Amino acid sequence: MAVPLFDTKLQNNALAPELQAAFARVLASGQFILGAEVQGFERQCAAYLGVRHALGISSGTDAILLALMALGIGPGDEVICPSFTFFATAGCVTRTGARPVFCDVSADSFNLDVTDVARRITPRTKAIMPVHLYGQAADMTALNELARKHGVKVIEDACQAVGATQNGRPVGGLGDFGAFSFFPTKNLGAFGDAGLLTTNDDALAERALLLRNHGAQPKYYHQFVGGNFRLDAVQAALLAVKLPHLHAYAQRRAANAARYTEQFANLPGVGTKLILPTAQPGNGHTWNQYTLRLPGAGGLPGAGRREALRAWLTARQIGTEIYYPVPLHAQACFAPLGQTDADLPVSARLAGEVLSIPIFPELTPVQQDEVITAVREFLATERH
Ligand SMILES: Cc1ncc(COP(=O)(O)O)c(C=O)c1O
Repeated sequence: MAVPLFDTKLQNNALAPELQAAFARVLASGQFILGAEVQGFERQCAAYLGVRHALGISSGTDAILLALMALGIGPGDEVICPSFTFFATAGCVTRTGARPVFCDVSADSFNLDVTDVARRITPRTKAIMPVHLYGQAADMTALNELARKHGVKVIEDACQAVGATQNGRPVGGLGDFGAFSFFPTKNLGAFGDAGLLTTNDDALAERALLLRNHGAQPKYYHQFVGGNFRLDAVQAALLAVKLPHLHAYAQRRAANAARYTEQFANLPGVGTKLILPTAQPGNGHTWNQYTLRLPGAGGLPGAGRREALRAWLTARQIGTEIYYPVPLHAQACFAPLGQTDADLPVSARLAGEVLSIPIFPELTPVQQDEVITAVREFLATERH
């Protein structure tokens, strides 16, 4: 039986009548950009995330860019972010004219290593951008303390982590800004591109609101250069149908994660040849991904074992993905920054070791058993 990495159709088809009604409402309204649908969704998100302000944005990437612009970050400034993340985190920093300073991550959490952040702070540092990778919060208590000490801002790249918590508090309200993505495969998936920007700071919210729409106030009068970062009404209306189900989706993901962990835990080689993902103490993990690590023989990065497992699973029609095969410091476009594998050893190693397997909420026990059996059989062949 084929097991896809995710299946957006199953989740959305289950809500088809409500989604169609929401679409019909937008169609009848004739209001397609911002407006009442977006405002309604923003209020719903602000309540869910426990923040004062939530702005509907065109994508997660645009939410990050807008946060940086609202903080006035630009040429001459540095923003510290992980090397082991999706491209947009650092791409947005470069687009403002500032310099991304890549920092290493902890192999246990895949998130920013706070000690490494501390040593990369310079007088030019304007912000730290932790990424809550795979649905789990970075160590926000330690990062906020460090940021306060140095007078720098914190932008949470919460694009993969809507609904995640730390010490009971939702991400997105823990730093100065939170950026979320509703890319279709995220825990809250839209019907195209969509995102959200959150903050508890009234002045920053007001500035972001202006910059979202070319910095115009009033219409056609521009004090600042902004952009078009607006959310479409149709996305807001459809997402508003799905948001009340987000908690249940996350619970099913967590149950799937727990089952994998329980089933894999006693296999030979687990802990050394196959390392399972864990939720760090205090974290409410939302399991956007369940990401295995396959260290290479003799400690060499990957050494082909990750590729071998991927091929093994592909042959059994089991979907996998590598998030992410190249750390950002090694991307061609960032080569001029001059950061090396030796400077970012954990990020470099993880890029050769990680493999994400199906965890989506609608995964059936039978499908999950297929994945578990296939991984078990792979480990068994390896021992001979
Ligand atoms: C960590 C991270 N940052 C930023 C983004 C960008 O979000 P979007 O695809 O909505 O622009 C994503 C999503 O793909 C992401 O996973």
